[in-house]
Amino acid sequence: MMKVLVTGGAGYIGSHTAVLLIEAGYDIIIFDNFCNASLESIKRVEKIVAQKITTIEGDVRNRDDLHTVFNKHKIDAVIHFAGLKAVGESVEQPLKYYDNNVNGTAVLCEVMAEHGCRSIVFSSSATVYGDPHSTPIDENFPLSATNPYGRSKLFVEEILRDLYISDNRWKVILLRYFNPVGAHASGTIGEDPNGIPNNLMPFIAQTAVGKRDYLSIFGDDYETHDGTGVRDYIHVMNLADGHVKALDKIENFKEVMTINLGTGKGYSVLDMVKAFEKASGKKVPYQIAPRRSGDIAKCFADPSYAKKVLGWEAKKNIEEMCVDSWRWQSNNPDGYN
Ligand code: NAD
Ligand code: UFG
Repeated sequence: MMKVLVTGGAGYIGSHTAVLLIEAGYDIIIFDNFCNASLESIKRVEKIVAQKITTIEGDVRNRDDLHTVFNKHKIDAVIHFAGLKAVGESVEQPLKYYDNNVNGTAVLCEVMAEHGCRSIVFSSSATVYGDPHSTPIDENFPLSATNPYGRSKLFVEEILRDLYISDNRWKVILLRYFNPVGAHASGTIGEDPNGIPNNLMPFIAQTAVGKRDYLSIFGDDYETHDGTGVRDYIHVMNLADGHVKALDKIENFKEVMTINLGTGKGYSVLDMVKAFEKASGKKVPYQIAPRRSGDIAKCFADPSYAKKVLGWEAKKNIEEMCVDSWRWQSNNPDGYN
């Protein structure tokens, strides 16, 4: 049985991936500093899979924390979710982002190598495509960053490529996520942002449940079918499955693999509002607001490479994303609190 360290495993994507990893027969250890998560998410995962999960509180920037884990457990591979992800905050506190995301990954890889573990799946993002010249976006599109968060993802991609060049025993898979939404079908785990959500889906869900008065739609004059921004929303369980498929294959790859995880379909903000209203039976009041700085008009994936190399495809549609997100939100109006 392959032993996998899941950094950031208490978080939104990590907790959903933990469920599927265990169901697929992987032995996992969760490592998280709980700066943006709670132990409760892991308790709920344990309930879903009906087993205990080894959980270690620690920081990926802390060598001692990591050595403790690697000394105790013979780890075969790491899925590295741990990091900070708020774009606006990254503009205000860039060093915090470079420290957590870039330095954190460098320290993690250094300790991994010292323990002879050289397989890593990294959470990259579609943000590395900057403002794309066209859609759909494939893996060979030019890369750029418009904020420190995006730049931290670009830097880590480069660091992991350099690492492979320095020692081609490394196995590296860079997964570029589009927009993860939805929740596990049990409605017991889901996205639980701190404070006012930055992202569309949790904001819509909190508006539908009555925690927010209305949604502000950031711009209705983009060059899209209805003027609002278009994104590739992907069900978090499908995204989680992409990680299982990546791990299944990681030992076979002979080069650094860079793979989009998206559906290939683009939906606008207004499309999402309508789909959510239908799924929840609730009204989602909204107002048109000015564009949000740094936002792009359209972003959706060409997901064909993932199908080719991982045999993976996102299957869940927008209705399932909204239904599952609503089940989580309505059962847990205050998240894990
Ligand atoms: P999340 O905040 O829910 O999960 C990240 C987890 O990492 C949290 O549990 C947090 O406590 C932990 N963490 C943060 N810094 C840490 C550190 N220094 N040491 C140990 N643990 C630490 O976020 P998520 O949405 O689950 O995202 C997971 C990863 O995917 C992140 O790297 C994120 O940048 C990336 N990503 C997310 C999205 C998205 O829209 N959610 C899109 C593209 C990429
Ligand atoms: N939006 C609103 N109102 C809101 C929030 C968002 O109208 O209150 C709009 C945005 O303008 C955008 C769309 O909804 O058109 C999606 O916005 P999100 O903030 O949910 O997602 P982004 O595509 O802006 O960003 C997300 C992640 C980033 C990641 C990026 C690319 O938040 O971390 O996808 O993968 F880098």
